[in-house]
Amino acid sequence: MCSKKALELTEEVAEEIGDIKIKRTTFKYRNPKNKPDRYEAEALRFFEKTLEETGKLPPYYIQKIDGEYRYYKPLKVQNVCLTCHGDPAHMDEKVVKKLKELYPQDRAIGYKLGDFRGVIRVSIPEDVIKKSCL
Ligand code: HEC
Repeated sequence: MCSKKALELTEEVAEEIGDIKIKRTTFKYRNPKNKPDRYEAEALRFFEKTLEETGKLPPYYIQKIDGEYRYYKPLKVQNVCLTCHGDPAHMDEKVVKKLKELYPQDRAIGYKLGDFRGVIRVSIPEDVIKKSCL
């Protein structure tokens, strides 16, 4: 379901709210389409570094680039995520097999409960913000 619907769903939401774009990204991606660009990589490093230094994930990160604002929210691994992103030895064989078929280069496995998994990025064009703030 995530494989077929995840990108579609984010695209649909984006359509509904005009110029606002949504993306999930992480260094250990399953789908290469979700690979971070250099600004997203900077945001990911900010979360990783703060987590390392303080033991806590900051609630958000904001960037302003090329006429848009990017808002990032960190995602943590919950129990339900382990079904598809956990230790393959403890996952359903069929799921492991299917993931290997669909994502031969899969990096998004081996996570543990509470791990930092990546971010959701919401991009809002600057003029949309200006209009809605006036
Ligand atoms: C039923 C299996 C399944 C479950 C449960 C699941 N995921 Fe995923 N996840 C996937 C698949 C498949 C993809 C690749 C989707 C795509 O092609 O964009 C993915 C992609 C992602 C991505 C995008 C980056 C990447 O690796 O390509 C993030 C972030 C993510 N999942 C986080 C989570 C979190 C957090 C949870 C728990 C709240 C979760 N997932 C639960 C199957 C799952």
